[in-house]
Amino acid sequence: MKFGVDRREALSASADAAAVGVFEVEGKDDRLPPSLALADKATGGLLAGAWKRREVKGKKREVTVLHRPDGRGRVLLVGLGARSQFTADVVRRAAADVVRALRGKGARTLAFQLGSYVEGSVTSSMAARALADGSILGAYEFLRYRTTTEGGVEEASVHLGEDRSSEERSLTSEVAEQTVIAENVLWTRDIANLPADTATPERLAEEARVLGKALGLKVTVFDEKQLAKMGCGGLLAVGGGSVHPPRLVILEYPGGTRRGRTVAVVGKGITFDSGGISIKPAARMSEMKFDKSGAVAVLGILRAAATLKVAPRVIGVMCCAENLPSGSAYRPGDVVRTYNQKTIEILNTDAEGRVVLADGLGYVVDQFHPDEVIDLATLTGAQVVALGDDMGGLVCPDDRLANGLLMASAATGEPIWRMPLTDYHRELVKSDLADVRNSTEIAVAGMLTAAAFLETFVGKTPWAHLDIAGAAWVNPVTRKYQPTYQNLGATGFGVRLVARYLQDLGTSKG
Ligand code: BES
Ligand code: ZN
Ligand code: ZN
Repeated sequence: MKFGVDRREALSASADAAAVGVFEVEGKDDRLPPSLALADKATGGLLAGAWKRREVKGKKREVTVLHRPDGRGRVLLVGLGARSQFTADVVRRAAADVVRALRGKGARTLAFQLGSYVEGSVTSSMAARALADGSILGAYEFLRYRTTTEGGVEEASVHLGEDRSSEERSLTSEVAEQTVIAENVLWTRDIANLPADTATPERLAEEARVLGKALGLKVTVFDEKQLAKMGCGGLLAVGGGSVHPPRLVILEYPGGTRRGRTVAVVGKGITFDSGGISIKPAARMSEMKFDKSGAVAVLGILRAAATLKVAPRVIGVMCCAENLPSGSAYRPGDVVRTYNQKTIEILNTDAEGRVVLADGLGYVVDQFHPDEVIDLATLTGAQVVALGDDMGGLVCPDDRLANGLLMASAATGEPIWRMPLTDYHRELVKSDLADVRNSTEIAVAGMLTAAAFLETFVGKTPWAHLDIAGAAWVNPVTRKYQPTYQNLGATGFGVRLVARYLQDLGTSKG
């Protein structure tokens, strides 16, 4: 979808549909709010009638379609909920609701009336960005395996009208930037949605090479032979049961300034997680093709960083392997030696994400000495139980890094919640036989013991762990509870969040 800025009033432009935001009425007043007078005029009074009948209430997710008697397209009224609880995320969701309502309905162009989405702490720049974000993300469909599509809005714009025409310049550049970010999320979703027969570890490596060529990034791929020489026993163990051998992929974005910080972004790239010998139950196992979402998010983050030319140097690391049971699979009881010579006692082959991340984290810390490390991983079912399936879990002992990510989360609308990490969790991952065990003896705080495990491989470098098990994809059941901009399948969670964080990072060390 193309998304732009237009100085005209939305209702005077000749788009197939104009979308106006409506707040919920508080109290008994049934008169049409003055802000809707223009829209009412365009509909020849139909809106006032609908309002009186309480057909239009302004509730969230409510979309009313009215046809203009003059034949100049449709007017959509989209509910924004209570004025007192209005945020930019409400706008993002409303934009997606509008785009979704128009899917397969023959409307190709869409005009948002910016003024109707600006209120309280939501500035015109926040509203314009959210409209772009929600529209582009909400219009996404994974079409690779479908021969038909209903079609939908192809071009949308946010209309300033006379009152805001002076902001045209700044809003145009903000919207352009947001469009780039949202487009990166779609690109990420397209790869994360690929099934495991196609998205093998080598295929993910190839995606990285192609991206590197296009954007001038240095890309290094370590295959199974090189991994053996390097001592990456974690990746080799987890990938050992599959005919598609593991890959460790490193992408280097040099940074926009000379003395910038170096941020490493490390992703779990399990192309399919059957559980291995500790096999998972059959129900919903198909969803484990999304277990690569962390590594694919790393690709999307590097793509965004290079396109937006962020200040810090960014090192992307993708830990790719397929976790299958077979005669060559690793087993419970095995002891694995990782890149940094630490040993892992394997007690459950289904706790494989931490085992591949052990190599990736150890490698990047040793080779690049980053100022900070962020990992993204669909790591534990416990994360979904604790925080739900719309939110990421943040484990980050470093306050500066944690606060930076929480600010980016608030700005982008990708929700995360900070969780603790204590010596109790560290105690639980100690092993009698090796340095750490990959699964604990008592099933408590699964998200946090997984984090305690990872911490062993990062050492003293400031580090943030994002467990994205819940938010990385949407299934047909959870779909109706999720915001419309998430769609079915991979969400690309983490791309907007970490891209924002990198954009906000200062240009100098310290
Ligand atoms: N990929 C899964 C985690 C997962 C489960 C993500 C459900 C999204 C939805 C991970 O590899 C796993 O299986 N973790 C185990 C760890 C346990 C064996 C210690 C889990 O969470 O049950
Ligand atoms: Zn697993
Ligand atoms: Zn997994």
